[in-house]
Amino acid sequence: MTWWSKTNEEEVAMGAVLITGGGSGIGAGLAAAFHARGSQVIVAGHGRERVEGVAARHPGMEADVVDVADPEQVTALADRVGQRWPDLTTVISNAGIQHLFDFAGPGPLDAAELGREVDVNLKGVIHVANAFLPLLKAQPRSRLVNVGSGLGYVPLAAAPIYSSTKAAVHSFTIALRRQLRSSTVQIVELIPPVVVTDLHRNLDQIPPRAMELDAFVAAAMAGLDAGRDEIVVGLAKALRIFSRASPALGLKVVNQEAE
Ligand SMILES: NC(=O)c1ccc[n+]([C@@H]2O[C@H](COP(=O)([O-])OP(=O)(O)OC[C@H]3O[C@@H](n4cnc5c(N)ncnc54)[C@H](OP(=O)(O)O)[C@@H]3O)[C@@H](O)[C@H]2O)c1
Repeated sequence: MTWWSKTNEEEVAMGAVLITGGGSGIGAGLAAAFHARGSQVIVAGHGRERVEGVAARHPGMEADVVDVADPEQVTALADRVGQRWPDLTTVISNAGIQHLFDFAGPGPLDAAELGREVDVNLKGVIHVANAFLPLLKAQPRSRLVNVGSGLGYVPLAAAPIYSSTKAAVHSFTIALRRQLRSSTVQIVELIPPVVVTDLHRNLDQIPPRAMELDAFVAAAMAGLDAGRDEIVVGLAKALRIFSRASPALGLKVVNQEAE
């Protein structure tokens, strides 16, 4: 039996689950899946209406509002959640944004917009880890799940900041896992392929070969149940292989099609 056995997984699944960016897409899908299993779920997101709408559709689910880019707000959220749900065993750091930037244009680009993507996608993941790890470390078994992307393996040139933040999330998650290897906290990275959500609102059309949300959520839950450290779903597996075997070919493939 491994350290992270199925028995441990069931133990963890009994505790409360906090999901950032839980007001839509992947976060809302995972929230519904945990709720259906009977877990206490808290969805925390930027837009109050969105998170409250998700919670209203699932009796017993709770909503909270946070900007993950603001470390004070994240710390305040951890304080509220820790006091109300001392059995918190799963934190899913899922909030993210994606913008298209063209550095080949006349420029310069809007520095605030460039920075905001780093603040949410990378610093947000760091702030959530920093604020919630003390709560998770107090549990006999717990897990922190950072949501990366297949584009962290091979960048989509049209989304250069997004892709680089996801590469950084991958590196940060590996380092965290190493530091916490003797703790009770499992550090997980969930690595989606392109999934049909609002993330792609800045693209002209939904990217081809996008995975349906339900299928993605089922695969993610199966990976969590299996206790995997890295849950690489669907075509993200191909991008991982490209990044190791043939990065140049991977770049060609990804950049003929949007994420
Ligand atoms: N869909 C894909 O193809 C795909 C592929 C790989 C990875 N991912 C990753 O999966 C995660 C979820 O994305 P999604 O596809 O489900 O897109 P989504 O529907 O746009 O969900 C992103 C969520 O993050 C929230 N959010 C954004 N900025 C925030 C902030 N500063 N603080 C708190 N919450 C914030 C949004 O809330 P508001 O709308 O209220 O601002 C939204 O509910 C992201 O990390 C994304 O990078 C997605």
